[in-house]
Amino acid sequence: MKFFIDTANLAQIQEAYDLGVLDGVTTNPSLMAKEGITGHDNIIKHYLAICDIVDADVSAEVIATDYDGIIEEGTKLAALNEKIVVKVPMIKDGVKAIKYFASKGIKTNCTLVFSAGQALLAAKAGATYVSPFVGRLDDVSTDGMQLIEDIRLIFDNYGYETQILAASVRHPMHIIQCAKIGADVITAPLSAIAALLKHPLTDSGLAQFLADHAKAAGK
Ligand code: E4P
Repeated sequence: MKFFIDTANLAQIQEAYDLGVLDGVTTNPSLMAKEGITGHDNIIKHYLAICDIVDADVSAEVIATDYDGIIEEGTKLAALNEKIVVKVPMIKDGVKAIKYFASKGIKTNCTLVFSAGQALLAAKAGATYVSPFVGRLDDVSTDGMQLIEDIRLIFDNYGYETQILAASVRHPMHIIQCAKIGADVITAPLSAIAALLKHPLTDSGLAQFLADHAKAAGK
């Protein structure tokens, strides 16, 4: 399973990349705004800065919501760097645009997916990735993981190559559940990825090993 980091924070992207387990980055307009990145030129510069850090796919979301606007914006984003994946919302014009981008060999990430039907449409249009938002479904008392299972079943039934990118992943158990189901990718904040490292028995076991080693060495 691939690990993407879901942030526009350069220090966190660098930290995850340095850990050696990072396969990509996802951003969205809210995450860019959170870092204070505003204005067209600054946004473009920021995407390029992310591309400089990682040797991996970087999702950059279009703001346009009409077909022509999505095509124009997405084509420009894709031309910035070969790592850029054009993130397109799951709306009618978005699906049409994904089909166009697929025909041009431009990678896409269909975002804001909340149902199996939406995922199926994105796959049929030729999306590279489809992003079901598990955490936001959980937030409204709907089982986000059930959606990942349903999409996995549907894609496997027909051999769709679109990768399931479980998004809105909030904690380490989401990551484990996605891995058990067979999601192709998860995107999560650094805190959720780093939390996989932690186990109290690892900490106490290591402390004991080091103490025994020091004692045997007469320290
Ligand atoms: C994914 O690409 C989305 O940007 C993201 O995972 C949304 O996560 P959130 O629901 O925690 O905002």
